[in-house]
Amino acid sequence: MAVLNSRLKVAVFISGRGSNLKALIKNSKLKKSKYKVSLVLSNKSDARGLSFAKKNKIKNYFIEKKLSVFESRALKLIKANKIKVICLAGFMKILSPNFIKKTKIPILNIHPSLLPKLKGLNTHERAIKAKHKFSGCTVHYVNEKLDSGKIIIQKKVKILKSDTTNSLAKKILKLEHKAYTEALEKIF
Ligand code: GAR
Repeated sequence: MAVLNSRLKVAVFISGRGSNLKALIKNSKLKKSKYKVSLVLSNKSDARGLSFAKKNKIKNYFIEKKLSVFESRALKLIKANKIKVICLAGFMKILSPNFIKKTKIPILNIHPSLLPKLKGLNTHERAIKAKHKFSGCTVHYVNEKLDSGKIIIQKKVKILKSDTTNSLAKKILKLEHKAYTEALEKIF
């Protein structure tokens, strides 16, 4: 118990499915893990990740969709819960520069491409259309520019001729789960 209490507290922001959140929680239960997920915030009331957080008895909140409201409540919760790192995991809002500055803690994001290639949305579809040979995922620090902060970890996968947007998304999602947990352990 003492070991668990000394682990660094992480908040995860989500908007949907929450498979990366699940991977982060699963990894945090390992003996060697240096962090624990203490807070989950969602800007969508029906985000599946919220029920997973509930099941795992992790404090979780849906905060109204308007960004300014989300950010001011999130800031309070982060301070009150002594959060040391924020992980964006399928969080589909762009945080304001003001929020990034005010939190004063690292914010990480996972993106489904090999940044700086394919910033933004629909990365798998765009990778296939552009006939890229490889794609993958990137965990990076968040700064004021979209998908542009310092890279922590990337994982790469070959795009096969037979790949569809769905098959590529599936392959990359598996890599994402590994990449996020590795990145988080790496920065502590
Ligand atoms: C993941 O593929 C993540 O990389 C992507 O959303 C998905 C969320 O899945 N994030 C972005 O596209 C951010 N620009 P999850 O809810 O199962 O973790």
